[in-house]
Amino acid sequence: MAARTPVIAGNWKMNTDVESGTALAKEISELSGDVSGVDKIVCPPFVSISSVTSAMSGSSIQIGAQNVSANSDGAFTGEISTSMLQGLVSHVIVGHSERRALNGETSDQVAAKAITAAEAGISPILCIGEDLSVRQAGNASSFVAHQLEASLDGYADWDSLIVAYEPVWAIGTGEAATSEQAQEMTAVCREVIRKLAPSAADSVRVLYGGSVNSGNVAELLAQPDIDGALVGGASLKAEEFSKLIAAAGSD
Ligand code: 13P
Repeated sequence: MAARTPVIAGNWKMNTDVESGTALAKEISELSGDVSGVDKIVCPPFVSISSVTSAMSGSSIQIGAQNVSANSDGAFTGEISTSMLQGLVSHVIVGHSERRALNGETSDQVAAKAITAAEAGISPILCIGEDLSVRQAGNASSFVAHQLEASLDGYADWDSLIVAYEPVWAIGTGEAATSEQAQEMTAVCREVIRKLAPSAADSVRVLYGGSVNSGNVAELLAQPDIDGALVGGASLKAEEFSKLIAAAGSD
């Protein structure tokens, strides 16, 4: 099996302003800027991307956006296109459950965003995950398999793809999935990729997200199909986030 470099990505969501985000970036960069053996990504709000980039310059931490439009330009008030992000970010989160739930994003739209991003040379971090009712009904695996397949409809750039399994019930609740649950579901994601692109299945990174912290990260990362974490709350605390990076890195 191909060795997969782990990924620790911080999704700051709608937190921090330019000043506090820049300070947070500086702290993360000082604590973790040189850690190797792990791809380190922070995803600040759009308005802070430039100042966060400056604050982290000289480090190997990469910058991601939290969303992107599937449209190239035009009358889409408030939206941000891939061409606006080119040169500013290496990654973009698409299909986060908050956008699916609060902004009504469909898997078709998520697929269009992922394709547009990849075509622009920006790696999509594509999120999927079931809510509590789906899990309680025993349908988590089939739901996630269908959601991922639909969110990858027409997608072709397998080298740039990162998938993030984020069960909705674990996000921001302090109740992470167990490592067994997370392993089972990331394996489901990998099987979907194997079906769509057999040669890519062992190289695409599949992350877990949902209440990851320094107390549970090691056990999650030890699972064979979990290649890292997409982190919300703990990515807003430099020391805590740096512990996650250290757990995934090689020094
Ligand atoms: P928390 O780590 O705060 O649970 O958030 C996870 C998440 O949604 C990352 O995208």
